[in-house]
Amino acid sequence: MTSSKLDWANLSLTNNSIDKSSLLGRDLLRLLDLTPEEFRLVLSHAISLKAKWKSDPAKAQQQATLLGRAVGVILEKPSLRTRVSFELAISRLGAYPVVMSDTSSAFSRGESIKDTTMVMERYVNAIVIRSFAQSRVEEIAHYAQIPVVNALTDDFHPCQGLADFMTIYEKKGDLAALKLAYVGDGNNMAHTYMEAGALTGMEVRIATPEAYKPLRKYIEECRQMADTTGAKIILTTDPATALKDADVVITDTWASMGAESEHDERAKVFEPYQISAESFAQAAPGAIFMHCLPAHRGEEVTDEVMDAPFSVIYDEAENRLHAQQALLSLVLDEKEI
Ligand code: CP
Ligand code: NVA
Repeated sequence: MTSSKLDWANLSLTNNSIDKSSLLGRDLLRLLDLTPEEFRLVLSHAISLKAKWKSDPAKAQQQATLLGRAVGVILEKPSLRTRVSFELAISRLGAYPVVMSDTSSAFSRGESIKDTTMVMERYVNAIVIRSFAQSRVEEIAHYAQIPVVNALTDDFHPCQGLADFMTIYEKKGDLAALKLAYVGDGNNMAHTYMEAGALTGMEVRIATPEAYKPLRKYIEECRQMADTTGAKIILTTDPATALKDADVVITDTWASMGAESEHDERAKVFEPYQISAESFAQAAPGAIFMHCLPAHRGEEVTDEVMDAPFSVIYDEAENRLHAQQALLSLVLDEKEI
């Protein structure tokens, strides 16, 4: 099956074109680290795991396969969803989560990335890291022999992308047939949606102010992938162009972690990009609203939209757990024990 012919309308485990072992030992630093087939494998595995845990959690826990393993979760920026969902996903797999955050984080004393990583991997079987520069997680992955998973950097949030595309599939079906509008800052989430869209053949429209566009190098890489899958990556400064007939409407904070000091100047520039009931009405009938959270109610999105029946924000947050559990189970080698 070629990438362009992948079935994005039926994400059952049985019709995957690659084996479950394809991801063993692999890093996930950004979604384009995956092929379309691998992205599909993670999503279908997540959907299957979710069903298993919903139907009989005690039985699912008994079947945990990663007993005796440990995963280090290093958080160099604050977190609610990432911390809780990774900690739970790791324990659901039977492994032990070692969570380090803020001032007690592994890298907080200025020890070199090499030494810290080489020591960490004597204890744990995978590293999950939330940090600033993408180059930092790339450097950790360079030294680590064990899988490294990006839990958000300034450039990408691949685990959120997995959860979000799982949610979109659950709510709207065939991923390749959908139009996604992302309106706001050309940040880590914008990059992540371009990558997920490019992998699945989706039409992704990104509307940002001129000075806050996604990074050119990532647009180019996504368009190269889009050429093989039939996806479209559309950049605009006009929210209405992105929103017209969209099936999925997404926004994110106007000032990401690390850019808080720019909040006031950004708030002025981004005002026309707010998702309100009025702007959402331009989307297709049956469209859904998504936000990775935390949201700034009254800024990038109104309360009315956040709390509307078409808002799927809490399902999206829940799916972080299932998607990350699936990812970790696929990259961790059970045979190593
Ligand atoms: N969406 C997300 O990553 O949330 P946290 O920052 O709370 O982890
Ligand atoms: N763009 C946001 C996402 C938070 C999950 C940030 O980086 O702060």
